[in-house]
Amino acid sequence: MQNIRDLDIKGKKLLIRVDFNVPLDEHGNITDDIRIRGVLPTINYALDEDAKIIIISHMGRPKGQRVAKFSMAPAAKRLSRLISKEVKLATDCIGAEVKTMIEAMQPGDVIMLENLRFHPEEQQNDRSFAKELAELGEIYINDAFAVAHRAHASVVGLPELLEKSAAGFLLQKEMDYFNRSVSKPLRPLVAIIGGAKVSSKLGALRNLLDRVDKMIIGGAMANTFLKSLGYEVGKSRIEDDLLDTALELVKKAADKGVKLYLPVDCIVADKFDARAETKRTTVQEVPREWMILDIGPATTTLFSEALEDAKTIIWNGPMGAFEMDAYSRGTMAMVQHLASSHALTIVGGGDTDVAVHRAGESNNISYISTGGGAFLMLMEGKELPGVKALEANNQ
Ligand code: 3PG
Repeated sequence: MQNIRDLDIKGKKLLIRVDFNVPLDEHGNITDDIRIRGVLPTINYALDEDAKIIIISHMGRPKGQRVAKFSMAPAAKRLSRLISKEVKLATDCIGAEVKTMIEAMQPGDVIMLENLRFHPEEQQNDRSFAKELAELGEIYINDAFAVAHRAHASVVGLPELLEKSAAGFLLQKEMDYFNRSVSKPLRPLVAIIGGAKVSSKLGALRNLLDRVDKMIIGGAMANTFLKSLGYEVGKSRIEDDLLDTALELVKKAADKGVKLYLPVDCIVADKFDARAETKRTTVQEVPREWMILDIGPATTTLFSEALEDAKTIIWNGPMGAFEMDAYSRGTMAMVQHLASSHALTIVGGGDTDVAVHRAGESNNISYISTGGGAFLMLMEGKELPGVKALEANNQ
């Protein structure tokens, strides 16, 4: 995959696809700007090259309608502050007004177009919509890893239409780290998979079992595995229809020689509530009316021992309902194990990055992905449509 450095972008009009789909609070203020900071190397490089920078992005899921709360305005304001430069926001992403604004651009100017998803054609990968976007620039740069799993007009349509296209530094870095961790890892490679559902990670679990040396399973999804192995899990969240699948995965691990680690003890609560009554039990003794909401201390020790010789660790999904303090210890302990490990540590997807940031350990993890769905798709062993489109059209 070519990156921005491989192209002559001096003074050129760059359409840079970013993913500024950032979380906002109820007042419309950005609560986490990692995705904006992530593309600064690309934007700064383009500024150094005196390019004309046209930023395009989506925000939320406005379903093809113009919805004020999904405006790119907060992102434009934050970017402007981060690069200490004016970032003009266009009122739309296509149309005469946008064209006029772009015609007036000087080298080193930055403008941001309004939310691509205000037009249903973006998600439909509509050819004429992509053409209208393509007419605005000369070179296409994709630095939107987090949306590279969507075959949308601005992701897969644009690289086909513009004469030159390349990856930005963030997309490049995400792919490099992923390849280092899963495609060509230093071994032992350990995957830690948590979160609520087996169903949403089935593809990833299957693919990773072909690649890893050890797999650690925590979070509510571990309940389905425990139940499939005959443990009584009380009122814990489980997926009844996946009990056979869980057993099949346990068998696959054994056949492949992958060491599979499941919780041996847990924190149970009498209801799903931060102030519920809680206690620690072994997985053999979960009371009938209680539910598992975190891994227990013996499991934390077991998992940390499994990580001891790891050279590469990939982690997706929390170990418990960590949004409530009472059930956050398992997840936080996992963050600490990764932070103090000498392995290459990659964290991505779900709320795993939130846990790492909350623990203040972001600087001690080798790489935290900006992607959710895109990271999961890579874990499933699939090619990202956005990356495929770039590779096919790199020239
Ligand atoms: C994300 O946050 O995962 C990306 O921005 C993609 O958003 P989507 O799931 O609405 O396509």
